[in-house]
Parts: sequence; C-alpha cells; structure tokens
Amino acid sequence: MVEGFSIRYASKTDKLRVTSFLELVDEDFYPPLSQRGGGIPERIERCLDTDEANFLVAEPNANRGNSLLEEFMGMIGYTRNWKGHGTAYINFLATHPNHRNSGISKELCLRLEDELAGSGIKRIYLCTWSGNPAAMRFYESLGYCSYAIVLNDRGNSIDTIYYKKNIS
Ligand SMILES: CC(C)(COP(=O)(O)OP(=O)(O)OC[C@H]1O[C@@H](n2cnc3c(N)ncnc32)[C@H](O)[C@@H]1OP(=O)(O)O)[C@@H](O)C(=O)NCCC(=O)NCCS
Repeated sequence: MVEGFSIRYASKTDKLRVTSFLELVDEDFYPPLSQRGGGIPERIERCLDTDEANFLVAEPNANRGNSLLEEFMGMIGYTRNWKGHGTAYINFLATHPNHRNSGISKELCLRLEDELAGSGIKRIYLCTWSGNPAAMRFYESLGYCSYAIVLNDRGNSIDTIYYKKNIS
C-alpha cells in the first residue's frame, strides 16, 4: 500500500507536471500518446483548456519538497457529453510506474465516477487495447462491460476494446 495520497482536479498551473507525467507513461500506451494525432500537447490542451474536460490527479499527502515539482502518482482524464448529454469518456488513465497495484487508479476511477454522477452524468465510456490485460482486468473489476471490439484497429493485430458503465 502506498503512503497517503489525495485526489484533486488539475488546473492550468499544473501544465508542466501533467506534461511530465504523460511523457513518463507515454510508452505504456499503444500506440504511444506522443504518436497519436496532436500528440501530448494537444491532448493536454483539450483537457486543461476546455470546460468539458479535465484531469483528476493523485499526489502524495506528505510534502516532501517543492510541491510544484513533485511527480503525480496517478492521473485520470475525462471528457463530458462525449456521446450526447449525460455521458462522459475516460480519455486517459495511468498510475506512476513506481506505485502500480496499490489501488491508486481504483481510487481515481471511483472518485471520478462520484464527481460525474454528481453533475448528472449517467454513463461512462472508455477504450483500451488487446495486449493490455492489466487495464482490461482493472476496468472489469470496477464493473465496466465491453460492448464493441474493433479488430486490428491499432495494427499488428492489436484490437481496440470499448467499455461502458452505467453510474446512475
Ligand atoms: C492499468 C493501470 C492504470 C492500473 O493502475 P493501478 O493503480 O496499478 O491499479 P489498482 O492498484 O488501482 O488496481 C485495481 C484493480 O485492478 C486490477 N489490476 C490492476 N493492475 C493489474 C495487473 N497488472 N494485472 C491484473 N489485474 C490488475 C486488479 O483487479 C486490482 O484489484 P486488486 O488490487 O483488488 O487486485 C496501470 O497498470 C497503468 O498505469 N498502466 C499503464 C497505462 C495504461 O495501460 N492505462 C490504461 C489505458 S486504457
């Protein structure tokens, strides 16, 4: 179990830390986030500069130094009204490699579900890719159901798997 951490919304002043975190986990994604349309900068802009989207970030409670330089322990990104009113899409989720399997992403997801449900969101969508069993088991353990698979969507026989969950 990791030491205490807290979860809050990211703000524009977190841009550098958000960028560092996405760069840190870039290669954990298939394809890497930096190789997708717009790359990491556009992804961050879409989340931090619009009202419909943001990140929740997990950071250590203990202030070990300059909190502005402290790495995040995990981040989840979302977009509201993705498939119409009352829906949202999880566009990013990762735990820092040093803190995986300690419940951080689970807490991030549950907190996001609470926040979204409180603002009238009834269904959450997301996707992952075959070859990422950690993510598939993770989402399934939280009650997300797969509803569509696009075969070879990412090349090299890697499929995209779409999930959804009703939260109210
Ligand atoms: C997938 C990922 C986000 C999980 O984050 P995490 O903080 O390690 O997950 P948690 O500790 O909150 O795990 C919660 C549950 O998920 C499942 N799970 C998490 N990691 C798993 C793994 N490597 N293998 C199997 N199940 C796993 C377990 O059911 C776990 O419940 P348990 O603790 O009761 O066993 C993390 O592995 C990660 O950052 N991967 C790289 C980026 C990525 O793939 N993001 C998702 C893209 S769609």
